[in-house]
Amino acid sequence: MARRTVLTGIKPTGTPHLGNYLGAIRPALALARDPELSAAYFIADYHALTILPRPEEVIDQTYQVAATWLALGLDPARTIFFRQSDVPELFELAWVLACCTSKGWMNKAHAYKARVAENQAAGVEDLDAGINMGLYSYPVLMAADILLFETDLVPVGRDQQQHVEIARDIAQRFNHVYGDVLHLPEALIPEEVAIVPGTDGRKMSKSHGNILPLFAPARQLRKAVMRIVTDSTPPEAPKDPDSSSVFQLYSLLATPAQRDELAARLRQGIGWGDAKQALYELLDDHLREPRARYDELMADRARIDRLLDEGAERARAVARPVMDRVRAATGIGRR
Ligand code: TRP
Repeated sequence: MARRTVLTGIKPTGTPHLGNYLGAIRPALALARDPELSAAYFIADYHALTILPRPEEVIDQTYQVAATWLALGLDPARTIFFRQSDVPELFELAWVLACCTSKGWMNKAHAYKARVAENQAAGVEDLDAGINMGLYSYPVLMAADILLFETDLVPVGRDQQQHVEIARDIAQRFNHVYGDVLHLPEALIPEEVAIVPGTDGRKMSKSHGNILPLFAPARQLRKAVMRIVTDSTPPEAPKDPDSSSVFQLYSLLATPAQRDELAARLRQGIGWGDAKQALYELLDDHLREPRARYDELMADRARIDRLLDEGAERARAVARPVMDRVRAATGIGRR
């Protein structure tokens, strides 16, 4: 039996942090290594345009994201790794799919509804103020990403589940009108990985300004770890490991033996400073090699371009016959 296809898109935004790694990158890389699956991962650069970022930002963040995934272990020989913008068939398919998409579905899409709610809360009269068609029809382009590669499984966070369901609805509508051409995908929501706490105890997120950077120099990483908020229990007092974000972060990377050891030391009573030092050392052990690979890649953009170009070639080899079938089914083009 053919291997099932797993595909996901990565928006090129923000400095990569530990929350991205533990929540999304590490599980996706594990799927990519599964011998029963064939993986296609891409940088969703055209999706990033919906907020009209400065061009330099798009460029820098695209390289950053590519280098991040490669440095953390994505194997481009196994996984088709490419830029969305290098596959023109995607945008051709997006138009066809838009014609199979009810406007009402888009009215209910989360990304759009969230912006409307913001306008409402701010008392803006025109609820569609500041909302462009790119944002409104974002799920259509995402459906094209998924359907063009005959994807079986789409690993995404809960926030994207609805978009995958919309892709499925669009495929069903297309198939109903034109015959059985498009393959129906399914979302793959990772079991709730323990929430990755940030330096202030809230969920780690760029918008909270509480991140631990993945590839900052070691001294900067140490500083960020030392800033993690802890309570004011005196150093020698026994501490409850489970209520501390230092220990939670440590557990997400440690072996069971390492984890039990730090828990025991905390219960006996060690200072938070010592616990943070242990966390820093563990992080540094994990990140030293990826950091070196990341720096090397970022110093050689031509190499990243070559890898992404090769990925795009392979992606288009999969995409072209699917798009040909879509054109044939819809009556587009000469006969
Ligand atoms: N919308 C996704 C996000 O915001 C990124 C994305 C674009 C995507 N195209 C995709 C994810 C296709 C899965 C499949 O994170």
